[in-house]
Amino acid sequence: MFLKYLALASLVVLYSLMFIGGYVSASGLGLSCPDWPLCPNGILPDDEYFIEWTHRLIAATTGALIVATTVGVWLNKQSHRKIKFTSTFASTLVVTQIALGALVIDLKLHAVLVAIHLGIGILLFAMTLLTVLFAFKLGKAMVTAKA
Ligand code: HEM
Repeated sequence: MFLKYLALASLVVLYSLMFIGGYVSASGLGLSCPDWPLCPNGILPDDEYFIEWTHRLIAATTGALIVATTVGVWLNKQSHRKIKFTSTFASTLVVTQIALGALVIDLKLHAVLVAIHLGIGILLFAMTLLTVLFAFKLGKAMVTAKA
C-alpha cells in the first residue's frame, strides 16, 4: 500500500525537476554552476548557483525516491513483471540521467547531450508514470484479495 504513494511521490518530484530543468535551459543558467557534483561553494546553496543547485538537489531526491520504489517493488511478493520492468528501467534511466548531467556540464552544454538529457527525461517520466499506474492497480488487487 505504501509503495503506491512512494511511486506517486517520485512522479511529482520528477515533474517539478523537469519543470526546473526547462527553466535552467531557457534562462541560460545551465553553466552557472560549472563543477560536478557540487557547486564551487560546496553543499550549501548560494545566490549565484541557486537554480542549478536546486535542479541537482531535486535530481538527487528523485533518484533516491525512484530507486526506493524499485527496491519496494522487488520486495513485494505480489509485484508482477510489468511493474518490475517499468520500475527497474526507471532506476536505470535515473542513474544514467544523473551521470549524463555531469557530461552536459563537462562538455559545456553540447547540443546533442542536452537533447539526449531531455529525451531520457521524457522516457523516465513515462516509466515512472507507468509504475504509478501499476502500483495503484497492485494496491487495489491487494485490498480486494483481503476482503
Ligand atoms: C533525474 C535527473 C534529471 C532529470 C530528469 C533532468 C531533467 C532535465 C530537463 C527536462 C531539462 C530541460 C532540458 C531542455 O529544456 O532542453 C534539464 C536541463 C538541464 N539539466 Fe537536468 N535533469 C536531471 C539531472 C541533472 C543533473 C544531475 C545535472 C547536472 C549535474 C543536470 C544538468 C542540467 C543542465 C545543465 C540543464 C540545462 C541545459 C541547458 O542549458 O540547455 N541535470 N534537465
